[in-house]
Amino acid sequence: MEKEGKPQGHAGIGHTRWATHGEPSDINSHPHSGKRVSIVHNGIIENYKQLKQFLIDNERDEFLSDTDTEIVAQLLDFYYDGNPIRCIRKVLHELRGSFALGIVFADHPETVYAVRCESPLIVGQGKGEVFLASDVPAIIKYTKDYYLLEYGEIAVLKNGSVNFCTLHGQMIEKELHTADFDEDSAEKGGYPHFMIKEINEQPTAVKTTITPRIENGMPNLSECGITPEALRSFKHIYIVACGTAMHAGMVGKYVIEKLARVHVTVDIASEFRYREPMLSEDDLVIIISQSGETADSKAVIGLAKELGAKTLAIVNVKGSSIARESDMVIYTHAGPEIAVASTKAYMVQLSVMYLLAFEMAYAKGKISEEECKRMTADLVAMPEKIEQTIKNSADICKYVSTKLIASESLLYIGRGLDYALSMEGSLKLKEISYIHSESYAAGELKHGTISLIHEGMPVIAVATQNSLLEKTVSNIKEVKARGAMTIVICDDQADIDRDAADYLIRVPKLSEMLMPMVATVPMQLLAYYTSVNKGNDVDKPRNLAKSVTVE
Ligand code: AGP
Repeated sequence: MEKEGKPQGHAGIGHTRWATHGEPSDINSHPHSGKRVSIVHNGIIENYKQLKQFLIDNERDEFLSDTDTEIVAQLLDFYYDGNPIRCIRKVLHELRGSFALGIVFADHPETVYAVRCESPLIVGQGKGEVFLASDVPAIIKYTKDYYLLEYGEIAVLKNGSVNFCTLHGQMIEKELHTADFDEDSAEKGGYPHFMIKEINEQPTAVKTTITPRIENGMPNLSECGITPEALRSFKHIYIVACGTAMHAGMVGKYVIEKLARVHVTVDIASEFRYREPMLSEDDLVIIISQSGETADSKAVIGLAKELGAKTLAIVNVKGSSIARESDMVIYTHAGPEIAVASTKAYMVQLSVMYLLAFEMAYAKGKISEEECKRMTADLVAMPEKIEQTIKNSADICKYVSTKLIASESLLYIGRGLDYALSMEGSLKLKEISYIHSESYAAGELKHGTISLIHEGMPVIAVATQNSLLEKTVSNIKEVKARGAMTIVICDDQADIDRDAADYLIRVPKLSEMLMPMVATVPMQLLAYYTSVNKGNDVDKPRNLAKSVTVE
């Protein structure tokens, strides 16, 4: 029934999603329906082709879209016998892949059924109304109270309330969570974009993340289930993540190895999970993830546990899958990160890497209490240094970004921690400005890549490691001699003259080890202003999703 052209009713489903099957079009948009069932779907059904063939073999051969989702709707319709839970259970046993579903049956129009397998799903509980969503920011303007669905659980939403049951129809009680942020935090707060807002939130994000983990001037991660005995027991640490989170792990590698003298391997989750890693009971696998729902990163947990390794999650979303499935978890407190390009989450991930390195080094007797307190004090002073850097480097970054917008391709180079940083700088620029860039170990350029340098090609050199400065400056001069336009990020006391740098972006001088926390700011700003100058959708760049919950 319609009124003023709008369908009437108390229950409905809808979904905006990252296209995985078929091009983004009306016909491929959700919801998808069979004769008596409509669904919305987050995730990917990996065996949808076999299921489609099954339907065709059973005289169900009319499909409107190219999507895997429509196959699920048709299958639900095929099995539906008037009992929604039984029908959902039957279909779920046939689906392979990661998914969460919202389902409406034609003969139960006031009820929405939801079921979660891999992809995240929450139920918001408002006053006389309930909501289904994949994440809390989507419902925060209606309610801060929500339930987290676990794997294989079904939610039945009707008349403003929700009941939960297992696939076998057994009723279950669930804990009601309350979001620790409000609608304003999830809005732009007066900034033109979420990304620049989140860059400016970094000082606060670091403070709220580290302060509860520092006691009497020393790092204390015991509330995360991490004991000094455990820290002493690990023989090899694997840091596994994707994208920016992996880059935070790269910084962690340098710092943990340098201080705690423990082997650290950093790996991309989509590679690690398929290369049969040689893990053992003495190993620790750290999974870093802002969303806590990245499919490749999540898959690492089960693999690590199978092989007897301990798992530690460093995540920003409370109650997320990676947090709940890991043995230990350190929550970062960056607040909701809305921009697809991660900035404050990366910064707080760095701060946790430092805390972990300091506590592990002290627990293993590699640094004294005095040294540990000094390093921790330096970390506590970081929010102010980050604030200062944002303020002092915004104008120069805005100006330098105008020199980048016409570039086809550019290099980010550095040595040691600067090389780890350059990876993040390169990704930031690529993903929001759509300009190709590559991070490269400065010392490796002469083994081939320097042939790419042509007149006017921008090279962004990260040169904050004083112990390596001389060599890095030589590399900068080598590319400059071949025509590169050099942009150098260095501390405010570094002796770098104009025959090396066309543009100098200076940041506060700190201990070498902590320089990443200020040097990353100009790279975030360079990417941001370049993207704005190009008129791109800074917060929602093309082809990208905030959380990649599919393989
Ligand atoms: C970050 O700028 C990127 N958007 C992306 O690489 C992201 O870091 C990656 O997908 C991992 O996400 P996660 O931290 O939520 O696991």
